[in-house]
Amino acid sequence: MHHSQSLLCLLTACWQSARVLALPAPQIGSYGETTGAVGGVTPPIPTATAPSGSLRGDSSLLGGNAPLPDPDKSDSAVVSNPQLVTGQEADAKLGLYLDFDSANPPQPIRGANGNTDPGPRTFEYEKLNPDLFAPPGTDTGDMPNLMWPMGLSHNRPGTGKNSGWARQQNTEVLPAAKAMAGVDMRLAPNAYRELHWHTAGEWALMLKGCVRVAAIDDEGRSFVDDVCAGDVWFFPAGIPHSIQAFDEGAEFLLVFDNGDFSEDGTFLVTELFLRNPVEVLSKDFRAPVDAFNNLPKDQLYIFNGTPAPKDISEQNTTSSAGAITGNGSLTYHWSQQRPYTVPGGSVKILDPLTFPAAKMFSAALVVVQPGALREIHWHTTSDEWNFFLQGSGRITVYGAPASSRTYDFTAGDVGYVPVACGHYIENTGTEDLIFLEVLQAPKFTDISVAQWLALTPKQVVKDHLNLPDSVVDALPKEKPLILPGNTNSTALAGNGTAF
Ligand SMILES: *[C@@H]1O[C@H](CO)[C@@H](O)[C@H](O)[C@H]1NC(C)=O
Ligand SMILES: *[C@@H]1O[C@H](CO)[C@@H](O)[C@H](O)[C@H]1NC(C)=O
Ligand SMILES: *[C@@H]1O[C@H](CO)[C@@H](O)[C@H](O)[C@H]1NC(C)=O
Ligand SMILES: *[C@@H]1O[C@H](CO)[C@@H](O)[C@H](O)[C@H]1NC(C)=O
Repeated sequence: MHHSQSLLCLLTACWQSARVLALPAPQIGSYGETTGAVGGVTPPIPTATAPSGSLRGDSSLLGGNAPLPDPDKSDSAVVSNPQLVTGQEADAKLGLYLDFDSANPPQPIRGANGNTDPGPRTFEYEKLNPDLFAPPGTDTGDMPNLMWPMGLSHNRPGTGKNSGWARQQNTEVLPAAKAMAGVDMRLAPNAYRELHWHTAGEWALMLKGCVRVAAIDDEGRSFVDDVCAGDVWFFPAGIPHSIQAFDEGAEFLLVFDNGDFSEDGTFLVTELFLRNPVEVLSKDFRAPVDAFNNLPKDQLYIFNGTPAPKDISEQNTTSSAGAITGNGSLTYHWSQQRPYTVPGGSVKILDPLTFPAAKMFSAALVVVQPGALREIHWHTTSDEWNFFLQGSGRITVYGAPASSRTYDFTAGDVGYVPVACGHYIENTGTEDLIFLEVLQAPKFTDISVAQWLALTPKQVVKDHLNLPDSVVDALPKEKPLILPGNTNSTALAGNGTAF
């Protein structure tokens, strides 16, 4: 007699009685997931009051010994009446953005590609990542993963009561992002990020609220400034610094010039004191040994502090070397820079031409309106690290040889585009798409594909791409940067237009 057979009878009976009890749905149900029989188990299983059965079957279940199943009478993998969204049946090469929000559940079908998915899955992931689930027919080959939602990062709380937190993206979670890493950090009102330094350079964009930053350089010059949402600071490698929130708290985005950077591996002032002989501390600081009795027992990391005086001059201390000023400044009040606007959006660039201290950080804060496109381009010498502040967008990354993949992004996601890889950023939502592009370069530059072809002899372009004269003649000699588009992402499916 087979254990599995008697167990199955038991399962069926108890499954029915469980149905009668009408157990509450699991919480995950609100995110949408497949439920019911899967992998030979029909949930819910009966509740046992004592152990019974055995952990293993026996050799009678080996293929060749066991009775053959009858596929006609066994479990079905048919999905009846799959629900397809507008545009899903259109030619896969059109690569329309598919809005799976209304699909319950979405299906990995695009044109003639793919099929339904009857198996285990959680629909919310697929709704957030339609271009991974039902890729454009133009995606091919083997690109590494190039996106990481901060929502999947482990969040490290500060010490003390509700002082803040930080979550990060580095090569541990996104191995392809070798040149840069990112941290999203929250400080409670008046909380500090502990005095520290690190081997990477730190570039930061204030997202919310205001902080006071302070630092000194290796010539003994000091720096202190207040920055608010939209402003930027830069601390070169090895430069020790402090960050304290004002009384409305703060959140900021840190970008480091090393993909292996970890927020857990910084040099901390508390540890420096804890890791040196007290005799040496006494000698170094000209103080009796008992002056060091109340050092913190462990690192403080992020912790609550004494409110900073509003008058910054009270916290401005200089040596004979003076202050770090002028083009050496470690902050840039980027929030006060007016954007360059074009049809479809706006761009602000901050690179060493205007913020020399951040020698290799070249950034663009881009707003792409609904339906619009940050044109197809690439960067000549640097990888691109990007971060989505609002809205939804998608990026296709083309990399030689013969590979491309499309990734979807929403607020809080990190994207990464390896050097020289062609890419665009398309707004796929109904709100303005706001994102940051960061390069490791002395100047923010890109190669616009449209401009390149406009400035290439017409005959050469025609011989390569067989484009009609009307298209070649209309190529823009100036970079468009952003192009407006139809807000209906599936308009092409009904013979509408993309722009
Ligand atoms: C701090 O003091 C120095 C002069 O010692 C001055 O150059 C600098 O601008 C001051 N910083 C602030 C933020 O007031
Ligand atoms: C600071 O940099 C700007 C832009 O490069 C330059 O025009 C200006 O002369 C510099 N100022 C100083 C004091 O070096
Ligand atoms: C977008 O265009 C498609 C194809 O013409 C049409 O079926 C759909 O209703 C349109 N969606 C909206 C929101 O207008
Ligand atoms: C789009 O136009 C083509 C060619 O005119 C036609 O065959 C097709 O039926 C049209 N599709 C829709 C959805 O109107």
